[in-house]
Amino acid sequence: MTSIVPRDFDVDLAAVPRAWFGGDQVATDISNGVNLLFPHGERFFVRSVRHFLDQVEDPTLRAQVKGFFGQEGRHAHAHDDLNAVLRAQGYEIDRFLASYKRISDWLEAHTSPKVRLAATAAAEHFTASLAEGAFNRGALDVADPRMQKLLAWHAAEEIEHKAVAYDVLQAVDPSYRLRVVGLAYATVTLGGFWLWAAREMLRQDGFTLRSAVKHLRGLRRQDPIVKRVFAAGIRTYLRRDFHPSQIRNEGDAARWFAAHDMAMPEAA
Ligand SMILES: [Fe+2]
Ligand SMILES: [Fe+2]
Repeated sequence: MTSIVPRDFDVDLAAVPRAWFGGDQVATDISNGVNLLFPHGERFFVRSVRHFLDQVEDPTLRAQVKGFFGQEGRHAHAHDDLNAVLRAQGYEIDRFLASYKRISDWLEAHTSPKVRLAATAAAEHFTASLAEGAFNRGALDVADPRMQKLLAWHAAEEIEHKAVAYDVLQAVDPSYRLRVVGLAYATVTLGGFWLWAAREMLRQDGFTLRSAVKHLRGLRRQDPIVKRVFAAGIRTYLRRDFHPSQIRNEGDAARWFAAHDMAMPEAA
């Protein structure tokens, strides 16, 4: 077990270009789609885990949970800043954000705390799988350097804390059924909201979802996100003996922290 260290992000995003993903507007809009979801989503993760903090007795896991809160809080803040940049670029994002918040708040109010925790554990598996692509698929190589830094910092910390919500879930209720219910919840909400947000961004640049998919196929990108994160990610998560630590990508995160003079995780 290692410590979870919240690190500050101090890059000014104001000058990020409109097509920051290698000049490709479609790829940028799809990526901005998931970026839009982060502030509200990550605060939901924190609330879901905090609800059970009193039941976490292991002092190491408790310390990791606090580090996880610190990291997700900073991520949400940095992505709020990115949303302000999108507004300044002329995107109308607030209608979408208001609807997204209204629906997810409604879902949150109508699900049990255990299901919310299980959904958070599964969503963290998805964010850690997304994060993997940042380091070993060169997914960010063509991105604007400021966005590269934002997304790599976020990705490295997602990898670092990938097991925290899962370990809390195991401590609270290790039932396989609950884990699967959480996976279904996270898949439908993350997939559905991301598709909706991407469609919204694409529409404002004159693309439809259909034209965007055609464009991406033509690019033959190195990172097939839907297959890798969702299809393969779900299969992995459904293994009865699954634990996030089985995916050995901590080295990617540690190398990035070292290369950017950021605090290194220590054995807890
Ligand atoms: Fe995060
Ligand atoms: Fe996370």
